[in-house]
Amino acid sequence: MHKDGIIVPKRVQDGLRTDFIGKEIHHFTEVTSTNDIAKELAAEGAEEGTIVIAETQTQGRGRFGRRWASPKRGIWFSTILRPEVSPKDALKLTLMTAVVVARVIKRTLRLDVQIKWPNDVLIKGKKVCGILTEMNTTGKVVNSVIIGVGINANLDIDSFPEDLRDSTTSLKKELNEEVARERFLRILLEELEHYYKTFTRREFHPILEEWKSFADFLGSPVEIVSYDEKITGLAIGVDQSGALLIKTQKGIMRRVMSGDVTLQK
Ligand code: BTN
Repeated sequence: MHKDGIIVPKRVQDGLRTDFIGKEIHHFTEVTSTNDIAKELAAEGAEEGTIVIAETQTQGRGRFGRRWASPKRGIWFSTILRPEVSPKDALKLTLMTAVVVARVIKRTLRLDVQIKWPNDVLIKGKKVCGILTEMNTTGKVVNSVIIGVGINANLDIDSFPEDLRDSTTSLKKELNEEVARERFLRILLEELEHYYKTFTRREFHPILEEWKSFADFLGSPVEIVSYDEKITGLAIGVDQSGALLIKTQKGIMRRVMSGDVTLQK
């Protein structure tokens, strides 16, 4: 029996303490991908902070074109941002969003969370949230950034595709009860705005420090697949642009901007 109904935008906005994020929320029962809808709205001139949320996605997308399972009772949403930054700063926004999600899970639900570079949020090593950042640019000008966030909120992981069950968890599974999704989302939007304002003041350092506090894989051996290349070594840290620093077995330092990290035993 599920207590959880649908997300009602008005109930999210009731008491929402933000200046622009979540002032406009478009809610759908089903979409292909909230990132796609957000992209269309951004192209039509939607205000910064507009949110697109859906109960289910038929073509939910993950990083590297992977499928993102998006059944009912998750939190699948995209935020339209219009920061005055260069395209390479998108990675920072992704890291910032991972910090926001990790922090809200930790603070409001008292669960122990970790972040795997760049933006997977994990509980006991299992993925509970993924973030997909997509940009619209003209040359080096960023017109809009869409930050898509997928949180396995009240999902029954037992009903998940078998190949994902071992590596995935949900807030409901970890808490043994359902999360009040509207309240959770309200807090998330408030924190998102707070961190985004810090980011736009060019104060990325404190965000990065907080990101590192969740990144317990730092100092461990990892394997990373980046642009068809496999790099193995020790994850040493993350630099000011959000790039992952790896020290290879030969002692060479590598700086990685994109890729998929696996922890080595
Ligand atoms: C990943 O970990 O690979 C990123 C997953 C991002 C999923 C979210 S759900 C909302 C938004 N819409 C999508 O199609 N993807 C993102």
